[in-house]
Amino acid sequence: MTPSTKSPDASESKALATLARGTYAPPNSATDVRSPCPVINALANHGYLPRDGRNVSASELQTAMRKVVGLSLPLAALLSNPIFLEHHPVPEGQDPKSPSLITKLWAALHNPWAVFPDFAMRHPGQVDATGRPVMDLDQLALHGKVEHDVSLTRLDIAQGDNLTSQPELVKTLLDASSDGGKTLSIEDLAALRKRRIEKQREDNPSLTYTAREHKLACGESALLVGVFGEAKGVRVDYARAVLEDERLPVEEGWKKKWWSVGILGIGKLSKKVTANTSATAAIGPSNTHPLSRREPIYDAPDNEAVDVKPPLAPLAPSSAGSDDEARLLSMFW
Ligand code: HEM
Repeated sequence: MTPSTKSPDASESKALATLARGTYAPPNSATDVRSPCPVINALANHGYLPRDGRNVSASELQTAMRKVVGLSLPLAALLSNPIFLEHHPVPEGQDPKSPSLITKLWAALHNPWAVFPDFAMRHPGQVDATGRPVMDLDQLALHGKVEHDVSLTRLDIAQGDNLTSQPELVKTLLDASSDGGKTLSIEDLAALRKRRIEKQREDNPSLTYTAREHKLACGESALLVGVFGEAKGVRVDYARAVLEDERLPVEEGWKKKWWSVGILGIGKLSKKVTANTSATAAIGPSNTHPLSRREPIYDAPDNEAVDVKPPLAPLAPSSAGSDDEARLLSMFW
């Protein structure tokens, strides 16, 4: 199924709005917004999230993650709740220091998700007409929160558009299958990530890719396999539907798992992706993009052993918040 490219008119928008939940329709590019996450976009394209991508609440996101994608309640909550914390941009010229662990734990007494302040993306006071905290899907592209450099299907922020899927990157991803186009194994995804890191090291002098970004990136591959695949990998036709059309691969035969996909299962898969990606590949050389605020943490020699995990320490002093958070993340994956 190829997303429509013709320009939408008002009647088309109205027709989209009345489509039954579950029916796939690509977004109306004039009115709708989408995120850098192919799965969240698929949920909006099927009407499980608002089709215009606007005013999405944490509970809508969690319900879709649980009921449609098959995530467990704790995993859906872990992925959804921290991003709805308010993001207070650092004023220009001010040192963008993260709060200390103590400050975060104190805040967490009031809101347990406040232990993940580095994922906060909602504008201060952003609520809908009924007062519910909400976000628009394109806000997920806020760089340095969940969005990171070296995505498999998006450009780095320093290259321009870090939000929209790039057909040639999707093609490269689908072509990474080593069994003739049937399956994308964990090893295929890890090898592709290593190639992408090396390519971005050459193409993007402002690259930011520390242990934190690597953990997130490996977690995303793990989610793809955990939700749409089996332990060894994901079918290429399923991945094509998700990444090319941003569509759930229902036509191809995918059904959500009868068990919930949980934190431990995804953590295990994520560790497998990480183990297949060398430390050398995990580390970015520099951190000069104006929207970035993290220091490179490690520069492994080129001949570093392949099974070395990316180290979590030492982090530069100015990234103390990220250090705490990388440790918290490592509790999960
Ligand atoms: C509330 C839940 C979720 C949130 C907030 C979220 C958010 C994001 C964001 C912001 C990105 C962009 C990261 C980047 O820079 O590459 C991303 C990427 C991705 N997400 Fe999600 N996501 C969620 C759930 C899921 C689930 C359940 C899956 C799989 C079933 C998934 C699969 C992916 C994949 C495969 C990518 C990588 C795309 C690429 O590398 O180009 N996400 N997600």
